[in-house]
Order: sequence, then C-alpha cells, then structure tokens
Amino acid sequence: MNVAVVGLGFVGLVTATVIADKGNSVTCIDVDGEKIEKLKRGELYIYEPGLKELFQRNMARMSFTSDYSSLRESEVAFICVPTPTVNGKIDLSSVRDSVLSVSSVDKDVIIAVKSTVVPGTASALSSMIGRSIVSNPEFLREGNAIEDTLHPDRIVVGGKSDVDMEKVCDVWEFTGAPIMRVTNENAELIKYASNAFLATKISFINEIANLCEKIPGADVATVAKGIGMDHRIGKDFLRAGIGFGGSCFPKDTRALVSFAEEKGLELKIVKSTMEVNEERIKHAIEMIEEEIGNLTGKNICVLGLTFKDNTNDLRESKSVELIDALRAKGAKILAYDPVIKELDGVKMVNRIEECKGTDSVVIASEWKEFETNPIYERAKNVVDLKKVVNLKVHPNVRVIGAYHAEN
Ligand SMILES: NC(=O)c1ccc[n+]([C@@H]2O[C@H](COP(=O)([O-])OP(=O)(O)OC[C@H]3O[C@@H](n4cnc5c(N)ncnc54)[C@H](O)[C@@H]3O)[C@@H](O)[C@H]2O)c1
Repeated sequence: MNVAVVGLGFVGLVTATVIADKGNSVTCIDVDGEKIEKLKRGELYIYEPGLKELFQRNMARMSFTSDYSSLRESEVAFICVPTPTVNGKIDLSSVRDSVLSVSSVDKDVIIAVKSTVVPGTASALSSMIGRSIVSNPEFLREGNAIEDTLHPDRIVVGGKSDVDMEKVCDVWEFTGAPIMRVTNENAELIKYASNAFLATKISFINEIANLCEKIPGADVATVAKGIGMDHRIGKDFLRAGIGFGGSCFPKDTRALVSFAEEKGLELKIVKSTMEVNEERIKHAIEMIEEEIGNLTGKNICVLGLTFKDNTNDLRESKSVELIDALRAKGAKILAYDPVIKELDGVKMVNRIEECKGTDSVVIASEWKEFETNPIYERAKNVVDLKKVVNLKVHPNVRVIGAYHAEN
C-alpha cells in the first residue's frame, strides 16, 4: 500500500517505520523542516530502542517532506500530530490544520486520526471537510514503541464508513491483533479512558506506597507484586515512584477532566489521581530532607532525567520537576542520564562515578543500569525514588514506599 504519516514525532516516526518495514511505501510529512532534513540523512531525533536500525533498514521505502501535495498517491493518511493541553483544555489546532491540509490536496485519501483527541473531534472535523474520518487511537508506550506497534493488545478503529475503516484495518492486519470496530466517539473515549485508568493505577500504588512507609516490615514492591498477580488487576503500571509524567498521562487526564466539566460532569477519580500525582515531588523532597537534612548548599546528584527509561522524552518529566524543587530549596545539582547529555542550567556528568562526593545520589528514573553500581556503596547517601535499585546488593539504599526505621 501507499500510506502517508503526518507528524513525525514519537508516534508518527515509529508508525511510519513499522508500516514501511511491512513492505508499504510511506510518505512522511512534518511541518518541521529541520526534522525532515535529519530524516533524509538517516538521523533520528528521538531515542527509542531498536528504532534507528529499523528506520535505516527501511529508508528506501520512505520519503520525507513538508509538502502535503506529496501524499497524493496515498490510500491512507495517518494523522500523528500533537494535541497538547493549553490552560487545562486540549488544543486541537495541529489536528485541524493537518486534516485540512490533507483534504485540500487529495479528496480520496482516507484520513485516520491517531492523535489523542476528545470525543466528538473526528465528527466535527468530518463535517468541516465534508467527508468521513477514521479514528484509530494509538496505545504505544515510549521505550517499547516498536514492540507495541508490532504486537498491540488491540486495534481500535472508529468511523462511519465501513469501506474507509476496512482500509485502515488492512494496514494493521500484520499485527494479528483483535480489531474493535466502533463509532468515532467510542474510539476517542477508549483512548482517554485507557490512559486515565493507567494513571489511576499509578496514583493508587503511590498512595499504598505512602502507607507502606508507615508500617514496619512493609514494602510496596512486594505488595504491588502480590496484587498484580491477580489477573483481574494485572501487574503493569503498579511501580511506585515520583508519579506519572511524560507527554501523555498528565495532559490527557487534564483534557479528560475539562472535557467532562464542559459536559457538566465532575470526574472525581481522575481528579484525585491528578492530585495524588501532584503531591509526589513534595513527598520525595521530604524523604531526601529526612536523609541529609536542610538542603541549602547540599550537592545532590540526580540519576535519570527523562520521564521514564528508554526514551529521550523530557516532556513533563517528574525528574526535571524534582530538580527544580531541589534547587528552590537551595541544593546544587549534578545530573546523569544515559541518553540526555545536555539540559538547560543543569551540570551534567558523563559517568555515574562522578557523583561520588555528593551529599546524596537520588535515583529519579528507572533505567536498568541504575539497578546496581559500586558507587551506591561509596556514596554518602543514596535515595531510590523509582524502586529500581537491587536491595539484595545494596541494602543500605533508602527506598520510596518502604518502612524506614528512623520514621
Ligand atoms: N508519545 C506517546 O507515547 C503517545 C502515545 C500514544 C498517543 N500519543 C498521541 O499521539 C499524538 C502525537 O504524539 P507525539 O508524542 O508523537 O508528538 P510529538 O510532539 O513527538 O510529534 C508531533 C510531530 O507533529 C509535527 N506537526 C505539528 N503540527 C503539524 C502539522 N500541522 N502538520 C504536520 N506535522 C505537524 C511536529 O513537528 C512533530 O514532529 C498526540 O496526540 C499524543 O497524545 C502519544
């Protein structure tokens, strides 16, 4: 098939590469000319395990441009542009612009929206351009994006035209995943409800982590394992830490709450999920203060800057929020990250060993390389805010979500 992908960020670039790998020709479109030039040279600006190799192997089937007229031959155009939350509400301007651009160059290409949009968006856009739009929300996780695109749990396809929906299903047939054919509105809400539920699991386990810290003998990792073994609950998204960040959960929970408010509804559970999340950094700071006292003038080394492991995505990173909060308390920050080597105003080190002399080494992201390190034995103090350290090797590390004798 000839397919177009519009918006070449974390979702678009992975989608385009995987679709190309399955033998399709892919026209890749982005308004950012610099990104297009990089991609033409075979360079990536996002870090996603396995993506570089897969991308470079499939470049011959991919073309890169900012010119929408290049998608004329395409049968389906996947819209993967950003949908940020601005002043608490979703900003749909990029989706609207890209849908208008696609429909103005080609009247026949099927438009499939992968961007996360509030219910009613596809129907409204469809009325605007006078033709049907397919909703095909994306569920991939950064850090696992290729695997998630190749083997999703399900494909959700929403729309009013069976022919258009069938064409979109054809693209994803290689996954072998169950396909749900639904209305546009159901597809759009399935995406928001999924993200809100996963965010709720995280805030839930973070509340249980707080409780564990008050109970001698309790540890949230063990509790999470025990509840996660119940298949009705599931083991994923039960890692306690400093809360959810990134480019999806914070903005999507905000957008869902404000969308519901416009409909006259208060989403109490989602609001509490956000509130619990907002308290995590304060909690982390208190824990570090318990360990090393007043933070003024203290040197602290933060390990991990991105919102999770295996990505270079810094959007709404809790680690960056933590650094800002530590600085506001007068601490001096050094930071190490496996892929981020520069961050405005933060002194970066190239090796974890360079953190040796600091007052505390604080682990703020769950990269595998943070599990063990000889420096944890030599450092003055280590605080694990992501439950990543192997405590059998490093029993003296202070861990979030576990009882601490000096409480
Ligand atoms: N990142 C994720 O993990 C993830 C997962 C599932 C769903 N989503 C959703 O997918 C959408 C895209 O997310 P992302 O993280 O890939 O965004 P991103 O910011 O990484 O990338 C978006 C790209 O779209 C380009 N763009 C903006 N306006 C455009 C236009 N009018 N025409 C062409 N290109 C344009 C930007 O230059 C950018 O390269 C969002 O709605 C997001 O909520 C993201």
